[in-house]
Amino acid sequence: MTTRVLVAGASGYIGRHVVMELLRREHEVVALLRRDTTWDLNHPNLETVRVELTEPGAWTGAIQPCSAIVSCLASRTGGVEDARRVEFDANSELLKAAVSWQVSRFVLLSAICVQKPRLAFQREKLRFEGALQSSGVPWTIVRATAFFKSLSGQIERVLSGKPFFVFGDGTLTACKPIAEEDLAAYLVDRLRDPAAAGVILPVGGPGPAITPREQAALLARLLGKPVPVRALPPGLFLLFAAVLKPLGFFSSRLRDREEFFRIAHFYATESMLLWSEESQQYRADLTPEAGSKGLEDCYRGLIDGDATHDLGEHKLF
Ligand SMILES: NC(=O)c1ccc[n+]([C@@H]2O[C@H](COP(=O)([O-])OP(=O)(O)OC[C@H]3O[C@@H](n4cnc5c(N)ncnc54)[C@H](OP(=O)(O)O)[C@@H]3O)[C@@H](O)[C@H]2O)c1
Repeated sequence: MTTRVLVAGASGYIGRHVVMELLRREHEVVALLRRDTTWDLNHPNLETVRVELTEPGAWTGAIQPCSAIVSCLASRTGGVEDARRVEFDANSELLKAAVSWQVSRFVLLSAICVQKPRLAFQREKLRFEGALQSSGVPWTIVRATAFFKSLSGQIERVLSGKPFFVFGDGTLTACKPIAEEDLAAYLVDRLRDPAAAGVILPVGGPGPAITPREQAALLARLLGKPVPVRALPPGLFLLFAAVLKPLGFFSSRLRDREEFFRIAHFYATESMLLWSEESQQYRADLTPEAGSKGLEDCYRGLIDGDATHDLGEHKLF
């Protein structure tokens, strides 16, 4: 049965794959795009609508009602104000549409890092998760682990002979990364999964979990040559953040810079795995897995030049 699905964040890394997966399954798709976002996908079942969700004004009038919504919205910067405007305000606009259209499911792509909410964008994500849960709209929240793009930022540097950076000894963190196609299929599957209604689903890719030190070793194996590893102390990020903190009172740009260093410190020290309150540790064995594509396939594609990942403002190195 064909469903008409609204995809928000359709131009993003995962959103674009959700659109393609829905079209592959012959659903009708409404891709919500910002006014100036470039877009090159065309398909008879695809409609594009340009709106600014963060600006006041009615926007649903231009759209025939949809029966489901998938939100892959994300603040591109993680800045304090942008996080509020995108993670909470823009998603809240979608929720209003979900209520008026009486959708059968609102699937929200969230992040596993909200388990330890220390950053502005994590708190805004949680705030919207709460609003969605209490809205009366049938919902599913998918808290994904790291995406392949988040583990691919250093490949270009390594290919040009530069070292692979790790924090601490390179084993402080681990994750079960998930491929964009696999996550997109998982999200689309949840639209009609009765067991996923009213449930928060943490999900990663196929295991085992991998540390940054192991990522460097994987790259060395695929390249057939040693990859020099350079260790950095993650505390550096907190030092930079502390220096910027007083200046943040005078400038939102500097406040966002401070937040950026705090985000960097978080990812340098926290695993993207399920956190067990009981054992007070990250548990790879308890982190659910989906999909079949492994990080090795992704790295091979990037090394061979068959694939690219647009890292945008998420790139650290
Ligand atoms: N990166 C990871 O490893 C990771 C891991 C787990 C979970 N997640 C979560 O997964 C979700 C999707 O991530 P992603 O990497 O696919 O995101 P992304 O590539 O950064 O895409 C973000 C999407 O949100 C849209 N957007 C940003 N600001 C907007 C605004 N002001 N108004 C309307 N739309 C706006 C963007 O539109 P434009 O193209 O117009 O900018 C884009 O379509 C996020 O919630 C993220 O936190 C990420």
